Amino acid sequence: MRQSSLVVVANRLPIDDSVAPDGACEWRRSPGGLVSALHPLLRHTPATWVGWAGGTGPAPSLPDIGSVRMRTVPLSGEDFRDHYEGFANSTLWPLYHDAVEQPEYHRRWWEAYQRVNQRFAEATAEAAEQGAVVWVQDYHLQLVPGLLRELRPDLRIGFFLHVPFPPPELFMQLPRRAELLRGMLGADLIGFQRAQAAHNFAQLVAKVLELPATDRRIGVDDRVVRIGAFPVSIDTAEMAALAARPDVVARAQRLRHDLGDPGHVILSVDRMDYTKGIEQRLKAYSELLASGHVKVRDTVLVQVAVPSRERVTQYQILRDRVEREVGRINGEFGRVGEPAIHYLTQPFDRAELAALYRVADVMAVTPLRDGMNLVAKEYVAARVDDTGSLLLSEFAGSAAELPQAYLVNPHDLEGLKQGLLSALEADPADVTPRMRAMREHLHRNDIRAWARSYLSALDDGGSLLTHLAPTG
Ligand code: ADP
Ligand code: F6P
Repeated sequence: MRQSSLVVVANRLPIDDSVAPDGACEWRRSPGGLVSALHPLLRHTPATWVGWAGGTGPAPSLPDIGSVRMRTVPLSGEDFRDHYEGFANSTLWPLYHDAVEQPEYHRRWWEAYQRVNQRFAEATAEAAEQGAVVWVQDYHLQLVPGLLRELRPDLRIGFFLHVPFPPPELFMQLPRRAELLRGMLGADLIGFQRAQAAHNFAQLVAKVLELPATDRRIGVDDRVVRIGAFPVSIDTAEMAALAARPDVVARAQRLRHDLGDPGHVILSVDRMDYTKGIEQRLKAYSELLASGHVKVRDTVLVQVAVPSRERVTQYQILRDRVEREVGRINGEFGRVGEPAIHYLTQPFDRAELAALYRVADVMAVTPLRDGMNLVAKEYVAARVDDTGSLLLSEFAGSAAELPQAYLVNPHDLEGLKQGLLSALEADPADVTPRMRAMREHLHRNDIRAWARSYLSALDDGGSLLTHLAPTG
């Protein structure tokens, strides 16, 4: 087994298997924030990525992607159900997102979570060179830092949580809260998206584990674990270059024409997830159509909602409700050849997404809670001519960095409608400086800046940065 000096550990590998039109198996980049963030970063960096390839049964052997070696961890049908769909996505996911859906607690799911975390830790221990840097990602693998430290005390271990970390009054619901906190504390550095999350974590560690904790440092046995905020980002230059490519510009013009050359195009791009506020957004749009503030011939809404976690009941219920509502709105307000909403559930390649971003006069990103939301950042990066308005939820992590967006509380229906109208009717003299400021921020704070700030903190300003290849 070849070993690496940099090992990234994430539940999902950056590729998914899918079936090509001719029936052959092919691989494509998997949708989701974590892969979007890490894939451009690691493409040219010698590293190993330990993760799950999607599907169940024996682990397929995958080719390297660029300089990155793929080390697959298999999940059985039972692991998939109880770890991925169960503890990760029906206990932790809703709990960490303000419990907007009810988290479920089952002892069998916790056993699967421990078992799968142990398997990830063992695969990582095998893949890491002596003294390697290991960077563990996200809520599926919160026990891995602790398990890995027991197996390989020589490693430098980082952990980063891509989703929100909840306030103590919510986290305290978790039956196995102490074990989860202890698992994370196996890391040398724990990164969160926002300072509030680091604060929540420090409070919980002090309360549940009775350890000395500030918002920056926690004393564990004879070690100090550092914690802090490192807001994740995107490859801003790559998205800008893609959006400026002549074929993408031509595709955007074609899309606008196919949409009926309306006065305004509103776009939303989400995984089909109850945290994304899709139903609230549709309700706001429907009321604006009913009141005549928005007219079908003048304005179209394009809603992309790629299915996600499709066997989990709450996701099935959401999809049914969204599709019923889209059908109702189109039935009530559409005309022949002029639907009120263009609804698409397909995964798109990056060029098609860039063309969609270019065509959108208003991008509506209105999650009820979101760790960051990279779609909002991708839209800004794609607006290379400084046009376009971003309607953004206060409850997305990205709102803290993009205050020039039209900020809304998605629970406040009247506020949501007003925000949408303000974004639609914005004066170009107002739009341009807002967009320019947001684009400049993202060029300064891109994915490489994120990795630099995290890795230099992991190493206290030392030599870890040499692990990253110079170009993204
Ligand atoms: P999350 O991590 O919750 O899915 P983010 O907004 O942070 O949310 O990240 C979503 C990522 O998935 C973005 O990079 C976006 O471009 C990508 N994505 C979303 N929908 C699609 C789609 N239909 N096809 C391809 N990629 C998509
Ligand atoms: O950002 C949160 C997250 O769970 C990521 O870990 C993942 O990339 C994305 O959402 C998509 O989710 P899933 O891996 O369950 O399809």
